[in-house]
Amino acid sequence: MLSKTIADRLKGFETPFYLYDIDLLRRTLRACADESSRYGYRVHYAIKANYDPRILEEIRSFGLGIDAVSGNEVRRGIECGFPARDIVYAGVGKSDKEIRYSIEQDIFAFNCESFHELEIIDGIAADMGRKVRVALRINPDVDPKTHKYISTGQADSKFGISYTEIDRIRERMPQWKNIEIVGLHFHVGSQIVDLSVFAKLCERVNELWAWFADSGFRFSYVNVGGGLGINYGDPEGEPIPDFAGYFAVFREHLHLGPGVEVHFELGRSIVGQCGELISRVLFHKTTASGKRVAIVDASMTELLRPALYQARHAIENLSGGDKRETYIIGGTVCESSDIFARDLELPVLHRGDLVSLKSAGAYGAAMASTYNLHDLPGAVYSDRLTE
Ligand SMILES: Cc1ncc(COP(=O)(O)O)c(C=O)c1O
Repeated sequence: MLSKTIADRLKGFETPFYLYDIDLLRRTLRACADESSRYGYRVHYAIKANYDPRILEEIRSFGLGIDAVSGNEVRRGIECGFPARDIVYAGVGKSDKEIRYSIEQDIFAFNCESFHELEIIDGIAADMGRKVRVALRINPDVDPKTHKYISTGQADSKFGISYTEIDRIRERMPQWKNIEIVGLHFHVGSQIVDLSVFAKLCERVNELWAWFADSGFRFSYVNVGGGLGINYGDPEGEPIPDFAGYFAVFREHLHLGPGVEVHFELGRSIVGQCGELISRVLFHKTTASGKRVAIVDASMTELLRPALYQARHAIENLSGGDKRETYIIGGTVCESSDIFARDLELPVLHRGDLVSLKSAGAYGAAMASTYNLHDLPGAVYSDRLTE
C-alpha cells in the first residue's frame, strides 16, 4: 500500500489521519467507468461511504452521479458540482425539510421506502406546486450473506417497501397527482463478495418487474443499489474490486426488456481501498495472561467499523523490523469494543512507530465522531504530498 512506500514522508504529520492514494482512486474509477459503460449502465457514488470534497472532486471528474441518504448529502453533492439531475435520494426517514430542499433542487429521483413516505412526498410536492420523480425501493427478500448490520434486503429489515404492500400502492397511485413513479429501486446489503447474491437479486428484480408490467406499470428505470465488497484481508493482492465480474452478472441475469436504464449505487468498492488510517503507537503493556497489547493513538472515533461490525482491517507496522511479536492492538477510547486486532503478528512495535490500518477509505472518515472529545481525523492526499 502507498503508506509503506512513503513512510518517511508521513512521520511529520499529526496522527491519526487518513491517507488517500489518489492514483489508486483514479484507477479504481477508471475500471468502474469502463466496465459499467460497456453495457450502458449508470453509476451513482454512494456518498455516505466518504464525503471528503477532494475525493468527490475525483469521482465527479469520472462522470458518476450521487446516491444520497440525507438532505445534507444531497447538498454536499450539489456543492461539489454534481448536477442535481444525477442525484438520487434514498433513506428510510426523510424529514419534511430534507424533502423540500431536494424537490427545490429538482434531483433525479427519490427512492421511496414506504407507502407512508409516498403519501407525504406527494403532499409536500402538491404544496410546492411541483411534480416529483420517485422510484419504489422494494425489499426483495434476498439474503446478502454479509454481516447482519449491513444487510438491508431481507423480509423483516426496516428498509424498502415490502412486496406485500405493493397492491396497496397500486390502488392508491391514481390519487397521487404530484408524484411520478419512474422506476424501481433495490439494495440488498454491503460488503458482498459472493457474486451469486447479485444473480439472485436479478432474478427477484426480473420477477417483480414482470409483476409490475402485468399490473399495468411501464417503468423506464431500475436502480439495483450497491454492495460490491472489497478484499479487506489482502488489499495489496486486490486493490481494485472485480468490476468486470460484477457488472457482467447483471448483464447476464437482468432481463427487463429494451430501453430500460440500469443504475447502480456503489460506495465501498469505489473508495474503500484508496484510504488508510495512519496512527502512532503510544504505549505497550502485557496482560495478566501474558498477551502483549499495543495502544495506538487512533480509536473507534476515527475508525468505527471494528467496534460496530467486528470488522477487521489489515494492519502494517510502517517502521518494519525483523523481530516479530503477537499483539492485541487497542485504541484510546474507554470502551472495551475499541480493539482493532487480536492475535496479530507484526514486527515489534515501539513507541512512536507508525501503523497503517488499511482499506479504510469507505465508512472510515465518514463515520468519525468526537466521542471522548477527540478531534476529527485529518486527511492527506497522495498527490499533494511534497517531497
Ligand atoms: C441504499 C444504499 N445504496 C447504496 C449503498 C452503498 O453500498 P456499498 O458501499 O456497499 O456499495 C448503501 C449502503 O449501505 C445503501 O444503503
